[in-house]
Amino acid sequence: MRAYLLNEYGLPATHRLQSLEASSPSDHEVLIANEAIGLNYPDLLMVQGKYQKRPEPPFIPGRDCAGTVLSVGARVDDFKPGDKVVAQTFSGAFAERVTAPVSRVFKRPDNVTSIDAAGAITVFNTAFVAVSIRAQVKAGDRVVVTGAAGGVGAAAIQLAQNIGAHVVAIVSSEEKAQLSRENGAEQAFVVTDRSEEGLKNFFKEHVRTAWGDNRGADVVIDTVGGDMFTAGLRCLGFAGKLVVVGFASGDIPSAKTNYLLYNNLSVMGAPLDIHFDEVLDQIRGGTNWWLKLLAEGKARANVSKVLPMEELMQGLQDINDRKVLGKIVVSVAQSG
Ligand SMILES: NC(=O)c1ccc[n+]([C@@H]2O[C@H](COP(=O)([O-])OP(=O)(O)OC[C@H]3O[C@@H](n4cnc5c(N)ncnc54)[C@H](OP(=O)(O)O)[C@@H]3O)[C@@H](O)[C@H]2O)c1
Repeated sequence: MRAYLLNEYGLPATHRLQSLEASSPSDHEVLIANEAIGLNYPDLLMVQGKYQKRPEPPFIPGRDCAGTVLSVGARVDDFKPGDKVVAQTFSGAFAERVTAPVSRVFKRPDNVTSIDAAGAITVFNTAFVAVSIRAQVKAGDRVVVTGAAGGVGAAAIQLAQNIGAHVVAIVSSEEKAQLSRENGAEQAFVVTDRSEEGLKNFFKEHVRTAWGDNRGADVVIDTVGGDMFTAGLRCLGFAGKLVVVGFASGDIPSAKTNYLLYNNLSVMGAPLDIHFDEVLDQIRGGTNWWLKLLAEGKARANVSKVLPMEELMQGLQDINDRKVLGKIVVSVAQSG
């Protein structure tokens, strides 16, 4: 099979597609004939050794894939050869064949393509953790999503909207605002002044009042970090919650705790991976929920570009260069 075997960490352009032996599934694993690989911001961090976990090379990176089951380990009862699946592994997805732990493999509805499922799994699962498990968004809530046209942001809008929340999107261009409205945001603000003061004032004056009064938002889902996080606190109302999803700006902010105290606010993290270890049933329930939403046309994966496997690393470079609107997915043709 062909795979990107990482011998050492480095920029995307330094990694090459190679021919390797596919491994057999161990007792609790599923071997998947890979049809599609979803690319994510954390993949970009991982190939450079900048992700919070750093496996010792050599290893095959990649977390999201979808395809068909080829074989299963001795202790796997839930899947059989031929099943259509989507999987989120910790590593190994940048390959034509993927051995995935059974806990991270999900049945894929017939009408959800491998391209859409691979494009959706990390971002929808992350959004599920942020929106449902951590913020516990309910119908009628006022929800602000930053980086709203990014992968996680777009998924967060759609999950919150399906719950019945009133969503406001924060983006950097009119094109991204349009995409956010198509995804279900009731309002989308293009915020171009990204200075600390500019963001703070914008959130206080415009986002806090977006619902026609000064009560503020119930929840902010922040994927950007830096000054956006600090500004996000300014638009929260009584008992408001700010959910930290990531730091796409590259800047890890600090919270002034007096501000949290005076305004009765909570700040909480939403790490996806640890939820697989701690509350697997909740994650499996969430995955089945958003797969159903995709199958019923109530949510969409927003795949904007499909690349061949040879161009996978270019896709990561495009994420790095902020050229991506929606999701990039790699289509995998089996080389035998
Ligand atoms: N918590 C978890 O388990 C988990 C899981 C997956 C991802 N993440 C993290 O969540 C964040 C978002 O992931 P994603 O997949 O949604 O990323 P993405 O698709 O690349 O979107 C990120 C968005 O952030 C905004 N942004 C602001 N400043 C930026 C900058 N300097 N560079 C790039 N983007 C910038 C952009 O929107 P505008 O141009 O509109 O500002 C962009 O659309 C990342 O930090 C990622 O590592 C966390």
